[in-house]
Amino acid sequence: MTDWHDTFSFVAPATVTFGPGAIAKLPELVSGLGTRAIVISDPGIAKAGILERIFALLNDAGITMEPYTQVEPNPSIETVHAAHDLFRRTRSAFVLGVGGGSAMDVAKVVAVLAAHGGTVLDYEGIGKVPGPGVPCVAIPTTAGTGSEVTVFSVITDRNRKFKMTVGSPHIVPQVALCDPALTLSMPQPLTAATGMDALTHAIECYVNTVHNPIAKTLALEAMRLIGRSLRTAYASGGDLHARTRMLLASTMAAMAFTRTRLGNVHAMSHPLGAHFDIPHGIANAVLLPYVMAWNMIACTDTYPHIAEALGERVAGLAPRAAAEAAVEAVRRLSRDVQIPERLRDLGVTREAIPRLTEDAMKSGNVLVNPRATSAPDIAALFETAY
Ligand SMILES: [Fe+2]
Repeated sequence: MTDWHDTFSFVAPATVTFGPGAIAKLPELVSGLGTRAIVISDPGIAKAGILERIFALLNDAGITMEPYTQVEPNPSIETVHAAHDLFRRTRSAFVLGVGGGSAMDVAKVVAVLAAHGGTVLDYEGIGKVPGPGVPCVAIPTTAGTGSEVTVFSVITDRNRKFKMTVGSPHIVPQVALCDPALTLSMPQPLTAATGMDALTHAIECYVNTVHNPIAKTLALEAMRLIGRSLRTAYASGGDLHARTRMLLASTMAAMAFTRTRLGNVHAMSHPLGAHFDIPHGIANAVLLPYVMAWNMIACTDTYPHIAEALGERVAGLAPRAAAEAAVEAVRRLSRDVQIPERLRDLGVTREAIPRLTEDAMKSGNVLVNPRATSAPDIAALFETAY
């Protein structure tokens, strides 16, 4: 149990440059980092024409770029090693990650391997990275993961069917270049999934047991921005104001949770990605209302703030009713952006629940969940969401 008077710290090691058109600042942000680099991205971004813009900007600045565009959703150890191989062969000096969480997570770990050698498995866990990696620049093209400012990369070990975490202050990208204009081309399902991931970050950070008032304030503001903008970003993808608020929310929520970790939703969504290859944001979005409802008895103080941040009228309501309004507001938002309601709709099999539960319990996120959680609790939550 934490107390208002407890000591906390807040470190934000990345430089965040944010705004529509901010991509034009790329040459000055990378000046001095070297003349050769690799760009790590995914096939969708390669097709969207975003890389051409980046190549042109860097070419004008005298920097030679080599692309690696094979990053898949739930990226694997093999992908990190293949990208690292390209880094070595091209004798690059720094790495750019351009895309969603997958591309940036791979870029962050490549920067570690480039500086310290070894394999991804050497850095599994928290605090295993011995020092700074080579410089890494993260450019998000979705508004959700916030990987551009976090101390975590999540990489899938296909042999173990396990999403492992590399967590270290040394893997935060030196530069986070956030240009909402790059998120305009996101299709509706991706807008929904990534937006709900950002909302999950904000909510799990806000209600968990870690005391950090600066992080919690960022998380609450992120919820407000998402409550005002996710539906618009989803319904009218070309609305730059909505896209700007969503990207700001995503980055703020990530700056927050990277200090506090998350909760049961993320503990449970990672095994769903590893076993069923379900996109991270979708898995979170489906689980979020169920986990919130279960956590409610531990959150009667915090949920009314969430309800209010999401635009609900809570004045005059009893605390319990105000808390329930938060769960209902999340459920409605999820429905409005057409997130499926049950795990069975995502191809999850019921027989997998024991194994999913075992893997979820390995996550450090369970330890900070607001309501104390045992393995049978997680199994029951999977059953309810199934
Ligand atoms: Fe997430």
